[in-house]
Amino acid sequence: MEKLVIEGGKRLQGRVAASGSKNAALPILAACLLAEGTSVIRNVPRLSDVEILLAILRELGCRVERRADGAVEIEVKDESNSTASYELVTKMRASVCVLGPLIGRRRTARVSMPGGCVIGVRPIDLHEKGLSALGARMSLDHGYLVAEVPPGGLQGTDVFLGGAFGSSVTGTTNVLAAAVYANGTTVIESAACEPEVVDLADMLVRMGAKIEGIGSPRLTIEGVKTLKGVEHTIIPDRIEAGTFLAGAAITRGDVTVTGCRPDHLRAATHTLREMGMHLEIGKDTIRAKHPETPLKPVDLTTLVYPGFPTDLQAQFMAALCVADGISVVTEKIYPDRFMHVPELLRMGAELRKTGSTVVVHGVPHLVGAPVRASDLRASAALILAGCAAWGDTEVHEIHHVDRGYERIEEKLNGLGAGIQRVK
Ligand code: EPU
Repeated sequence: MEKLVIEGGKRLQGRVAASGSKNAALPILAACLLAEGTSVIRNVPRLSDVEILLAILRELGCRVERRADGAVEIEVKDESNSTASYELVTKMRASVCVLGPLIGRRRTARVSMPGGCVIGVRPIDLHEKGLSALGARMSLDHGYLVAEVPPGGLQGTDVFLGGAFGSSVTGTTNVLAAAVYANGTTVIESAACEPEVVDLADMLVRMGAKIEGIGSPRLTIEGVKTLKGVEHTIIPDRIEAGTFLAGAAITRGDVTVTGCRPDHLRAATHTLREMGMHLEIGKDTIRAKHPETPLKPVDLTTLVYPGFPTDLQAQFMAALCVADGISVVTEKIYPDRFMHVPELLRMGAELRKTGSTVVVHGVPHLVGAPVRASDLRASAALILAGCAAWGDTEVHEIHHVDRGYERIEEKLNGLGAGIQRVK
């Protein structure tokens, strides 16, 4: 089991390049199942979650190759198997993103039902509702979600994807990926507007799909008969970029993230400004510089895009732990996504949790401690806290962070952190 040993008390300073977005890459790689010919996807991050999805695509009959230039080439060779096995799906919940493409193209799918997840229950009822509305017959068989499309094919219709927490990102990508091959017109109301959904829709359009309203909560899809392989470059990872900016805040640093999309990060940059950070925003760069006076507390609520992303809540909470005053952090997407709270408490943070809200009483500094990573973003928060804290921090169960951050210790060490990976 690997751990990170972090020498604290370092300011993060310098420039760091954003990697390709994990959450855009997953549905985009899955959508290559829809195309005839070869697709070449660039800027695909090297992450364990991506490797799992590539293994699933191989299981589903694709030739998958990582080229020397880093691009991933995907060619569908054999469409006879439509089963995404328990062995692979159980390693990553997001594997369910193959469901829509399989139903759309192969008209049959057997995808292991994703299991539980530490950040919450994470049902997939909206996916099922949307795909059933298009005519797929959905059932559950020995832990597998089975979908069959009747002989006439999927039929375009109106689909409402609003749920108790807003819309669903992967629910939207699944219904979209199925609807591109449906007969007639599908209108998805309350579609997720996250940049990762937009990136998928943009690629589908270049494959030959007819989609209007991209980026809005109403997507109109005119079904087509064929889609062709394309070349596509994945958008930069807004969550990784936001993590480095939160790192500048917590360590009193000065970090410039390059190759990012500032327009995807407005909620984060707005919050950083409220915290007193000095921001310089370029075309594809964001510089966040600490004001040298203590950070100001803020009230922060996670919401669907363009609201503040749940995937940055833990990292920003870590930064608010050293603000001068009381912040209130409310989680509206995953009410239980607070596994970092008990670990931050071990580092001297003062946090009070009631329901899906955490009241953060700022302290002058955090203190290094052994802590346990419990999920991807909680691990990132603990690593940032470790960089800022007095003394050394050990972050255990670090495989969580490798799911979603490419070479995190190398990138942070490039900014002056003192992180070592130890077996
Ligand atoms: N929900 C339902 N029913 C559904 C689907 C979702 O009630 O059928 C609820 C969920 O329980 C949650 C909310 O709706 O409360 C939003 O879930 P959503 O479906 O949007 O999440 P997701 O698509 O499963 C993606 C990201 C997550 C990110 C969320 C929210 C990927 C692969 N994952 O998950 O990323 O937190 O959107 O933005 O795109 C991460 O990267 O660390 C991560 C967890």
